[in-house]
Amino acid sequence: MKKIKIEKNTVQETLIIPLYGRKMCSEKFPKLYTDIFAKELCDRLDYDFSELEKKNNSFLYEFGSLEAAMRQLDMIWEIKAYLKKRPKATIVNLGCGLDETGKACDNGLCRIVNVDFPDVISARKQLITEQEREKNIACDLKDYSWMDEVDGSNGVIFFAAGVFHYFKMDEVKSLALELSKRYSGGRLVFDSVGKLGLKLMMATALKNMGINNVDGLFYVNNPKKELNWSERIKVTSKGYMLGYYDMKSPGIRFSHRLLAKMADKIIKMAINKMEFE
Ligand SMILES: C[S@@+](CC[C@H](N)C(=O)[O-])C[C@H]1O[C@@H](n2cnc3c(N)ncnc32)[C@H](O)[C@@H]1O
Repeated sequence: MKKIKIEKNTVQETLIIPLYGRKMCSEKFPKLYTDIFAKELCDRLDYDFSELEKKNNSFLYEFGSLEAAMRQLDMIWEIKAYLKKRPKATIVNLGCGLDETGKACDNGLCRIVNVDFPDVISARKQLITEQEREKNIACDLKDYSWMDEVDGSNGVIFFAAGVFHYFKMDEVKSLALELSKRYSGGRLVFDSVGKLGLKLMMATALKNMGINNVDGLFYVNNPKKELNWSERIKVTSKGYMLGYYDMKSPGIRFSHRLLAKMADKIIKMAINKMEFE
């Protein structure tokens, strides 16, 4: 089968880390989280995974895989809760990469929309067959024309996993305000880190993409205060690693949970939910 190339040192490449993390977590901690699609997708990519594979057994990389998994578990939790109220709602995966969380939440009635840059959507289309009730949109999220293609009439939940770190503060604000104007009754769920977390990312992922300056990039130290952008938006926030699940699962060590606690408390990793009134 033809392999699909993922270019190095591009924004597109950032989709590899969470994808590989989900694969790794499914292998190491299957009771906690299993992504049935991740391994097959990795096998179909023309990408040199050897650097990542070398670090497979390091504690920090193991923790990285837990980060990828917990974020998706949290998103799934929020999406399923919303679908209970609005079963025919549209689930919109913002900056979807090769993530199939929408499918993992499919109740047979909802719609699924995946949005990412054209090169990512093109790779996605070659790797993942679009299902009934599913649509891929190739567009920069900062160009709001993609919203014209999203039907929120039966409810809509947008989620962005690992995406807003590449946005400026004002860009996230303006996107959230636009969504709140267009989709009353909808929700937006996304992860964030505090300033310290952004600096740590700077040393790794962001630097590889040629982003050398974190000034102005999105971070949140106190979600309830700092995301209070409109009277029409109700903001709630939970810890990213331990806010939804206690991570007490076979293979997960006390040291993993301790680091998870520190990630939530010190790096201020959070999952934020905006409810549009
Ligand atoms: C770290 S990856 C996360 C991918 C996916 N959400 C996941 O959890 O596996 C970030 C993704 O956001 C996409 N992205 C970043 N900025 C974007 C923008 N302005 N418009 C559309 N997609 C964007 C990238 O192309 C990439 O696929």
